[in-house]
Amino acid sequence: MMRYASWINESKESFLGEILKTANYEDVISFAGGLPAQELFPKDELKDCFNQVFDEDGPIALQYAEALGYDPLRAWILEQINVGSKTITMEDLIVTTGSQQGLSLVAQTFIDPGDMLLVESPTYLGALQAFQSLKPKVLMVPSDQDGIIPEDLEEILKRHKPKFLYVIPNYQNPTGRIMSLQRRKDLVRVADKYNLLILEDNPYGQLRYEDEKYPNLMDMYDNVIYLGSFSKILSPGLRVGYVVAKKEIISHMAMVKEGMDLFSNSLAQRAVYKYVTGKPLLEHIVKLRKVYKARRDVMIDAFNKYTGDWVEINRPKGGLFVWAKINEIQDSAVFLAQWAQKEKVIFVPGTFFYPDGRISNEMRINFSCSSPEDIEEGVKRIARALSKVKSN
Ligand SMILES: Cc1ncc(COP(=O)(O)O)c(C=O)c1O
Repeated sequence: MMRYASWINESKESFLGEILKTANYEDVISFAGGLPAQELFPKDELKDCFNQVFDEDGPIALQYAEALGYDPLRAWILEQINVGSKTITMEDLIVTTGSQQGLSLVAQTFIDPGDMLLVESPTYLGALQAFQSLKPKVLMVPSDQDGIIPEDLEEILKRHKPKFLYVIPNYQNPTGRIMSLQRRKDLVRVADKYNLLILEDNPYGQLRYEDEKYPNLMDMYDNVIYLGSFSKILSPGLRVGYVVAKKEIISHMAMVKEGMDLFSNSLAQRAVYKYVTGKPLLEHIVKLRKVYKARRDVMIDAFNKYTGDWVEINRPKGGLFVWAKINEIQDSAVFLAQWAQKEKVIFVPGTFFYPDGRISNEMRINFSCSSPEDIEEGVKRIARALSKVKSN
């Protein structure tokens, strides 16, 4: 018998992995992934940028490089970030292999087995995966439409001393919620009182479809580790993300990163740098906003038209997901496996976003990577599956 690490033996078979496999089957409409629309990737421009890296940078671009990342790109990111009240310097930033690696670096740098971590309820599944090998105790902080509830957080902090709180304040995965300004202020006030470290994950902040922009927690409070990413605003295949934190934290993370992958793909970092300095990134983001907003609207209209009172949906002001609750159904995972999959439509059941694995009648539905026609047809299929449950 293989002598795996204990957390591997304790982890469950990947039901979600099985579902996601069916996303590639012919005729299946998948709302399950969190993928950006691939027809919108600036493929030709990025190809030119990679060519420029080879032509202009030469063999150095193919050499081993610094764990902290490609300096010109780091400096460019700093310029973008240094619009808040705080000044961040080069020593406060490390480039990572997507923000997912940022989560793993934080986990390895901070978590001892048995440590307590706080997360929103529900939260991003991939973060739970990044944390799990370190075997923390993950506690959910009650959250509502405006984000984490500060009074509940304070009650927890009176009794426990968690290593950090993980939050996605902008267009959260899975709920699409944005944390209101008042909540941000209240959260920071409570965090400050208890000297709580906050891990702020912000891959979706730029994908906003209504005029609403709040300061990052990083700009409001000192004790924050901030994760950024080019995945959702440029391309996830590049695997370029970054972490901003106090210099001391970044230097520990650099050491951890060396053990993990030495440094992140420097060709990709150089190409991203050519891209962002060749043409304003905002132009591309504006295009994404327009297309995604239209797809969100098609999805909301389709739910209103086809599922009526059966399904309660929110209206996310940004990001990639609608969060929906199916009335009169207990378990959306059962609904998916027994009914929706037969109608050739898939989504991610709510249970996966709760670390306690609770039964949930919610579902996360992605609208960014399907055409408007497929969005409408997919929602029709969900409605058809629901009507079959009802008449069963
Ligand atoms: C909240 C959140 N954090 C982090 C990630 C990881 O993104 P990446 O590693 O591509 O930057 C994702 C991806 O979906 C996400 O939704």
